[in-house]
Amino acid sequence: MADRIYYPNAELAKTAYCNSMDQYKKMHEKSIKQPEEFWSEIAKQFYWETTSSNDKFFSYNFNRNEGDIFIKWMEGASTNISFNLLDKNVKCGNGDKIAFYWEGNDVEDYSRLTYRKLLEETCKFANVLKSKGVQKGDRVAIYMPMILELPIAMLACTRIGAVHSVIFAGYSSDSLAERVLDSKAKVLLTADGAWRGSKLLHLKSICDHAMDKVKSHGHNVESCIVISHLRRVTCPPGNTSDGGKTKNGTSNGSTSEVNLSWDDDRDCWWHEEMEDADSSCYPVWVAAEDPLFILYTSGSTGKPKGVLHTTAGYLIYAATTFKYVFDYKPNDVYWCTADIGWITGHTYVVYGPLVNGATSVLFEGTPFYPQNDRYWSVIEKYKVSQFYTAPTAIRSLMKFGDDLVKKYNLDSLKVLGSVGEPINSEAWLWFYNLIGHGKCSIVDTFWQTETGGHVVTPLPGATPMKPGSASFPFFGVLPELLDEDGKIIEGEGEGYLVFRQPWPGMMRSLYGNHERFQTTYFDKFNGFYCTGDGARRDSDGYLWVTGRIDDMLNVSGHLMSTAEVESVLAEHAAVSEAAVVSKPHPVKGQCLYCFITPNEGKNFDKQLQDELKKKIRERIGPFAQPDIIHHAPGLPKTRSGKIMRRILRKIAVGDRNVGDTSTLADEGIVDLLFQLRPEA
Ligand code: PRX
Repeated sequence: MADRIYYPNAELAKTAYCNSMDQYKKMHEKSIKQPEEFWSEIAKQFYWETTSSNDKFFSYNFNRNEGDIFIKWMEGASTNISFNLLDKNVKCGNGDKIAFYWEGNDVEDYSRLTYRKLLEETCKFANVLKSKGVQKGDRVAIYMPMILELPIAMLACTRIGAVHSVIFAGYSSDSLAERVLDSKAKVLLTADGAWRGSKLLHLKSICDHAMDKVKSHGHNVESCIVISHLRRVTCPPGNTSDGGKTKNGTSNGSTSEVNLSWDDDRDCWWHEEMEDADSSCYPVWVAAEDPLFILYTSGSTGKPKGVLHTTAGYLIYAATTFKYVFDYKPNDVYWCTADIGWITGHTYVVYGPLVNGATSVLFEGTPFYPQNDRYWSVIEKYKVSQFYTAPTAIRSLMKFGDDLVKKYNLDSLKVLGSVGEPINSEAWLWFYNLIGHGKCSIVDTFWQTETGGHVVTPLPGATPMKPGSASFPFFGVLPELLDEDGKIIEGEGEGYLVFRQPWPGMMRSLYGNHERFQTTYFDKFNGFYCTGDGARRDSDGYLWVTGRIDDMLNVSGHLMSTAEVESVLAEHAAVSEAAVVSKPHPVKGQCLYCFITPNEGKNFDKQLQDELKKKIRERIGPFAQPDIIHHAPGLPKTRSGKIMRRILRKIAVGDRNVGDTSTLADEGIVDLLFQLRPEA
């Protein structure tokens, strides 16, 4: 079954924006050979305060021998993103259309927001930001749950040309502080707290710790604007609600009862600031290459990288990928389950859908609360037509059996999307047959924080699907596979996945560190953007992304660096050395497998293991918790002291076939580590 080719549903193909491989190939060829013409035609659909001349529409350098790397689209043009997403939609008759159905953590909490109201709230909050001294180019950090104020805050930043930096609200206070400090954010936006399933997240208190830490490093967050969220949502049964609603909907008191620490000079409530704010705000026109947002992603050195995206190119790329990859039509309801704290949420919860005038679901909760059928019930409730999620979610839901799915009417679905990691054929087939009833196209979208939008993906009305293959490049994208020496692999083969030329939505730099941008992505292969992923091309030309080939791990779709985890583990007083590798995991894709060498005289016991797990949770976030901690009295090192991770990966999976060990300083260590395997 997995080897079969699955053809797009003929009904869907009839009306699809791209409905055949011939059309795809023609469009793709034009986008590569005449990028100026291809993208300038698309750009005409949007509002530009000033336009770009043809000779300046696109320029770049991917070759370090010829100077600094740069990528520029639409030089000379100016626009405002919120104007294109909101004012333009309201003017085109979409004012009363629902932009977001908000579905809270609890089934009893839901609301909706029209495009007109979204514009009004965005303008009001833009005025609040202005009143806090935020100006064009200033950074605003956002640490929020999945609530309507989150896209409002992002769009309010774009309204006045401020640069948002959203930090996933599952990060610890240390991780938050590191990111706030790096971007020197002037303002921090958060909520008092949020329920995730039946767990309460104390967001404001995490922000307090982070702001203290930031201050101790010499930077001051001038204002912290807090949404009073807990009072308006239902408290999960068995919990005390700290001023929230009880299960029967009655109020349990006011937010003032929530035990928050408060700095009167710095902290204020969102709703109080919004009360008198003016509901109109003239947009600040920004240049095409002015920064739009920073989004941090893990870097292999352990220090997060502030990926910088700019205005015009990101806008046209988010718009075009959303339109073609999800084949969104005006009456569809689209749902992307990703958190806005990740790039998927930026491009495919906020920018892509809104610029297309789409109606989306914004979901605060988890797939498992109150029951393991929450996703299916939400699809039925809103008659979702495009459903975009991650392989790890699919795999974890498969476990609960098919009956839970069959209770619901999922007939509204047309396109299913997958993102974040390779999807195994078993999960693909379950998604296709059980969720999509064998009639929906699956778009397995390969991309990265850095790429801004999909770069290798099927198109639902055109591409015959092979389970597990992201298939072909999107418009404007020219992939190559290279061998270790940088030689291009033609036809069938496997190698480093790189891109030869920029597409509009690609990152422009790493915030405050252009040198790191150049060395990370362009030094390995001169003239190419290096993704850090490996891929295989089959005899039909399909691309199969095989996963990271650097020291990065992908746990449930969260990218992490081994160095980042190792440095936290090595900080523990009882730890002499730590080495982290990934191990395949049936649900998470990969999990963290940590080798720990204790200091002389220190015990490797359960207490130490628990302390190390806790430390990772506190320093990075709960999603980074290691699955296995392995006692390693020594590590396999070369004579020059380099840890041979290749061998550690073999030990992690119990594969005795470790290959050549002759370069090891102490060959005996390998046997010892096999003996000490925790599962042995
Ligand atoms: O390894 C690839 C994997 O996720 C990495 C990018 O992670 P991040 O920047 O956090 O963005 C995730 C969401 C776009 C990639 O380098 N990845 C993402 N999508 C796929 C994938 N691997 C295989 N197939 C995919 N569809």
